[in-house]
Order: sequence, then C-alpha cells, then structure tokens
Amino acid sequence: MAQFYSDKVMEHFTNPRNVGEIPDADGIGEIGNAKCGDIMKMYIKVKDGRIDDVKFKTYGCGSAIATSSMATEMIMGKTIEEALQLSNKAVVEALDGLPVNKIHCSVLAEQSIKAAIADYYTRQGIDPAPIVGKLADPHQPICEL
Ligand code: FES
Repeated sequence: MAQFYSDKVMEHFTNPRNVGEIPDADGIGEIGNAKCGDIMKMYIKVKDGRIDDVKFKTYGCGSAIATSSMATEMIMGKTIEEALQLSNKAVVEALDGLPVNKIHCSVLAEQSIKAAIADYYTRQGIDPAPIVGKLADPHQPICEL
C-alpha cells in the first residue's frame, strides 16, 4: 500500500489528528457514500466566528481518514468563511497527492465540514443555503471504489 501513498498520507492515516466527538458541538455534519458505505461525521465548535475546535469520526477508507485529519488541521482556528473555502483539492495538495481513484474520498472531508457549518447556521436560525451552497447528497455515491 505504501508505494501508492505519500508519506504524509501514511502519517495522517496511521496517526490521525482531531479524532473524536465534541459533545456540545455548535455544528455537526454527516456525509455518507452510498456506494462504498463510508461515512464521515464532523463536529465543530465556533467562537467569535472562528473554528475553535473540530473533531471527526469516520467509518471509511484510509484516504478518507487521512484527508479528514489534514482538513481538520487546516481549518482549526480559521474563520468560518476561510473554513468554507477549503477545497478537497487543497487538502489533497497538502497531503502531497492521492492516487487518482482515491481523489474523491477527499470530498467526504470537504463536504462534511460544509455540512457542519450549514448545521451551525441552521442552529443560529440562519438559512445556510446562500452561504454554504449545495452540499453533496448524502444518499448518492460521491466516489468511485
Ligand atoms: Fe469510500 Fe474512500 S471514501 S472508498
């Protein structure tokens, strides 16, 4: 497996950051992949418009774990606006790449962060649609196996 994955991917896969739950989270986003059955759950804590804490739980492949770990590190302490701009492409680049057939696993991380932020806005009584945009349909496959 190691020859297909960068050292950074292997490092985040074997030692993922920010794994767990936030019991009193301000927003929770869950995105699933109907095709492979992988599920990503992202918890955020927001303070003064910034991501004060973020944790994730995933029942997914190694690429999903590595991209989520890296994504949480990339949005920690950032403003909500900055966190919303995080793309799966930026996460893949930060990990020094992924095999082509695993690129789409990184979408779980990006979309679950957006879903958690959408949930945060909904809890504030704000319609998240104009701010967060369209999220992946949790019941539709978003990656190839
Ligand atoms: Fe399903 Fe990677 S997220 S195979």
